[in-house]
Amino acid sequence: MEFADRVILVTGASSGLGRHAARALALAGATVVLLGRHEKRLDGVYDDILAAGGAQPVIMPFDLAEADDPRFNALAATLAHQLGRLDGILHSAAQFIKLSKLEHQRLKHWEAAFATNLMAPFALTRACLPLLEGAEDAAVLFSAEEHGLNPGPYWGGFGLSQAALIALAELFAAEHQDNPNLRFNVLIPGPVSSPMRHRTHPGEVPENLPKPESLLPFYLTWLGPQSRGRSGEVIRPDLGYDPSRQD
Ligand SMILES: NC(=O)c1ccc[n+]([C@@H]2O[C@H](COP(=O)([O-])OP(=O)(O)OC[C@H]3O[C@@H](n4cnc5c(N)ncnc54)[C@H](OP(=O)(O)O)[C@@H]3O)[C@@H](O)[C@H]2O)c1
Repeated sequence: MEFADRVILVTGASSGLGRHAARALALAGATVVLLGRHEKRLDGVYDDILAAGGAQPVIMPFDLAEADDPRFNALAATLAHQLGRLDGILHSAAQFIKLSKLEHQRLKHWEAAFATNLMAPFALTRACLPLLEGAEDAAVLFSAEEHGLNPGPYWGGFGLSQAALIALAELFAAEHQDNPNLRFNVLIPGPVSSPMRHRTHPGEVPENLPKPESLLPFYLTWLGPQSRGRSGEVIRPDLGYDPSRQD
């Protein structure tokens, strides 16, 4: 129960990796704030966590792409009012743009991707900073893509939003390097079975991919007390995936 008494906000908690991470955090004792756009999907995660014996979570329906500063501030104020503290944020929400040459991408696709993948993690973290700075041991973990490290052809606006997200995390870490109680790191999960992975790589055999469960030790380490004092790192787990395996 190393997360007992901790409050962790998880974006993208309704699906994929965020959903699994939220459940693991709740089983480790955290009060998890489940953020996503669809209340019904969050209800399902809530029920799943309670059925598994996890700490009671809080549901936070919220559209990251539509919010402005006042709405992010209001979200932080709600957390302060209802829970009185915040010990961590896992940014796991993301918006994918389908792979294509730049000439086929449109501004509205870039706007949606940048709003969810870059601007929201910035604005949400910024709004929650006073709460995080008030915690004894706070961790912010951004989720990014391999293509953020090396934006390649066809990944277009999605890859560039991820590159900017990694740079954003490094900026937060650098600007708070004097605070040993607050850290900012980036997790690049690599290939893991999830709804998004099946959209980005439709040719893969899902059963051959690592399962989301294999990432849980990384979420627990980088959001919890074990990573205290480590900030500005990019974590790239090797989950042993062999992309040439097609059986
Ligand atoms: N799976 C992989 O192999 C892999 C590899 C590298 C990096 N990642 C990264 O890991 C993270 C999680 O990926 P995933 O595979 O779990 O993706 P996913 O299954 O598609 O989940 C994405 C989540 O983002 C939420 N979301 C999207 N737009 C939102 C918005 N405007 N406001 C609030 N929530 C929004 C979705 O919730 P609703 O639709 O219910 O709102 C959903 O819960 C992402 O940052 C991704 O880039 C994944």
